[in-house]
Amino acid sequence: MQTNKTNEKFGYFDDANYEYVITTPYTPTPWINYLGNDGFYGLISNTAGGYCFDRDPKFRRLTRYRYNSVPLDNGGRYFYIRDENDFWSATGRPVNTELDEYSCRHGMGYSRFNASKNGIATQVTSFIPLDTKAEVHSLQVTNNNDTSKTVDVFSFIEWCLWNAEDDGANFQRNLSTGEVEVAGSTIYHKTEYRERRNHYAFYSVNRELDGYDTNRESFLGQYRGFDRPQVVENGKSTNSFARGWSPIASQHLKLKLAPGETQSLEFVLGYIEVETDEKWESKNVINKTPANEMAARFDTHDKVKAELAKLNAYWHNLLNKFSVNTPDDKFNRAINIWNQYQNMVTFNLSRSASFYESGIGRGMGFRDSNQDTIGFAHMVPDKVKERILDLSATQKPDGSAYHQYQPLTKKGNANIGGNFNDDPMWMVLSTTNYIKETGDFSILDEMVIYDDQEVATHDHFDHLVRAFNHVVNNLGPHGLPLIGRADWNDCLNLNCFSENPNESYQTTQRGASDVAESVMIAGQFVLYGQEFVDLCKQLGKDELAASCLAHVDTMRSTIEQHAWDGQWYLRAYDSRGEKVGSHENEEGKIFIESQGFCAMAGVGIDDGKVKQALDSVEKHLSTDYGIMLNQPAFSSYNKYLGEITSYPPGYKENAGIFCHNNPWITISEAMIGRGEKAYEYYSKITPAYLQEVQSLHKTEPYVYSQMVAGNDSANPGEAKNSWLTGTAAWNYYAATQYILGIRPVYQGLEIDPCILPSWDKVSIKREFRGAQYDIELRNPNGLSKGTIQLNIDGQAVKGSVIDASTYSGKHTIIATLQ
Ligand code: GLC
Ligand code: GLC
Repeated sequence: MQTNKTNEKFGYFDDANYEYVITTPYTPTPWINYLGNDGFYGLISNTAGGYCFDRDPKFRRLTRYRYNSVPLDNGGRYFYIRDENDFWSATGRPVNTELDEYSCRHGMGYSRFNASKNGIATQVTSFIPLDTKAEVHSLQVTNNNDTSKTVDVFSFIEWCLWNAEDDGANFQRNLSTGEVEVAGSTIYHKTEYRERRNHYAFYSVNRELDGYDTNRESFLGQYRGFDRPQVVENGKSTNSFARGWSPIASQHLKLKLAPGETQSLEFVLGYIEVETDEKWESKNVINKTPANEMAARFDTHDKVKAELAKLNAYWHNLLNKFSVNTPDDKFNRAINIWNQYQNMVTFNLSRSASFYESGIGRGMGFRDSNQDTIGFAHMVPDKVKERILDLSATQKPDGSAYHQYQPLTKKGNANIGGNFNDDPMWMVLSTTNYIKETGDFSILDEMVIYDDQEVATHDHFDHLVRAFNHVVNNLGPHGLPLIGRADWNDCLNLNCFSENPNESYQTTQRGASDVAESVMIAGQFVLYGQEFVDLCKQLGKDELAASCLAHVDTMRSTIEQHAWDGQWYLRAYDSRGEKVGSHENEEGKIFIESQGFCAMAGVGIDDGKVKQALDSVEKHLSTDYGIMLNQPAFSSYNKYLGEITSYPPGYKENAGIFCHNNPWITISEAMIGRGEKAYEYYSKITPAYLQEVQSLHKTEPYVYSQMVAGNDSANPGEAKNSWLTGTAAWNYYAATQYILGIRPVYQGLEIDPCILPSWDKVSIKREFRGAQYDIELRNPNGLSKGTIQLNIDGQAVKGSVIDASTYSGKHTIIATLQ
């Protein structure tokens, strides 16, 4: 692996350390990282901005963050460093003092900030240790001067009053409720603990304090920002005690440093839950024992280092279940490090909390979360199983599903409801993909409630049957699936007709909803319906397989009959039965989603429709920065189409490059053997390839963004909504299962690549159902696709599948493309 420093303005990859190194605090947008693996999470920017929460970023937020603030990225874990004549931020901001050195290394589950000024060097390492509900911030201060120095360190965090929505809105109440305690070097945040909460937070440091502040205005001074706190300027804490207003935690530590000396301070920002009868130590004094026990786990630098090493080992192990070495370093970097990492973050957070998702809006999406699992089933199969079953439990008896559920309660979100008719079939994808990865059919036997039940009466397989039947039972006039509120494209709202700016496109439905049909769902039904048929066959349910196959076949011919527009697939029929996505339309003549799904399903593959549809995608939708969602963009609002026409041309679902659906085309190209096209589409949206356009792109250069502005926009190529996007899972799936072609099937691991002809040799390490395969893919004739000749441990083997029932332990495989 290599480190590439050329041409980069804001940073570079350090692959050997699995890090991205940011070299300025002033990136085009805050470039964030995620801390935490299991229920307790933090978002942390390249200047330590962000916040942390326990499970639910709306209801259990520990620290306060100001979204879309001025200046950007306000609120975080700050360390103010003050020497005799100057002060600065150990994390680059919020103090704007120019540093002699600055870097932020975002790694796997940790971020490390290095700064220096006036010969004083600092390093902050921030992470959430495994199995711990706390952020640890380890600060080291080194005196590189020839003389002794006294350095004042002031820590700072601001408490959020738990319910983040209320915290930002209900000031008549919450400016009066804030409560803290201070004991030793720890500041405890206990707002609302006196009433119905049995949880509190604390901020501790492993050294005696020279002072503290818990009241924000006392620390900052009147009308000052985070960049110039009065206390830091004065060099002295005020020992303020918050009663209401805005409680904070700031510790003052005076360090005397000999020349060359380094001192370490270990800060712990922890979350504690206590049993109701153990809440108090004495009247109105909280039970601090669990907090003190937690802090004690990190009270020396060695202990903290050991915890960080455990975290590193955890990630190393996860990421190494699948690794690849192609002649293309960027491809390797994406597959081996950042794409897998982003997949895990989308697993943890779905679409709930990012720099763009405020953490108070969405819960876990049914559609999104099912799709996300295809990006990490190989890393955390047990968690995938649990996730799929959680999703299954929010399904309704008629096979439809709640569109979202809340992670704290795992209950369907009634405010949003259901009727997004693509939802059910995504569970067929997640479940079959899980079984193919693990060989574990037992997931189908798990008893799972339907949303209205107390006790489960049916197994997960029954949920899949009902998902399948939901499509069959909801067909429109042409025999295509009814769209409901929307399909995958949340903004194609064919039954909404909204004229009121204060209503939601997604939850408003006026149409009778028995006319508007989706070709995307039709293609999805053929693809995952066929998957379901195959699953039934695996289970020996031949009758069910046959009856389902009949529905799938009918849908196939319905699409060919009613949804082929001549050169591509239609997108939909609207509530008036009019075509959407046809050459007959003036705007929105062609859409990507139906091309992707009908092509992946192979509808009309034999008579050239798939190839023609893909050629039309290239001709009408492809740009330098990826494939646009539709063309021409909608230039005015059309209430019969809904939110899609509400966006200015070139943005979001209105002709933006909505990266999530690009891999559907990549996969389709790979399926028909066009390796160069597949690679081109893959690489156009993959961040590892976009280092030269960082200022245009704006978002983090190590993760996918949801949307890149399209050709109709003012600034094609500009990205938004980084991190929490289905693009991560889908592009990983496209690259590993269709470009590299390492594809789990029920029998084992199939090898069916579609690569660049110039890749003469690719090595792959893959853990699969308890075995470790060292695969060497050879391409002596410069092909993209072909027949695979398998040789396992020196023995020629027929076919292209490594049969999982035959192998365990380590094996060497040579797969030759011919
Ligand atoms: C957002 C949503 C996703 C939807 C997509 C297209 O990414 O999270 O559910 O499919 O937009 O509208
Ligand atoms: C808006 C966005 C869409 C997203 C939805 C989520 O409609 O355009 O991308 O899926 O909001 O609520």
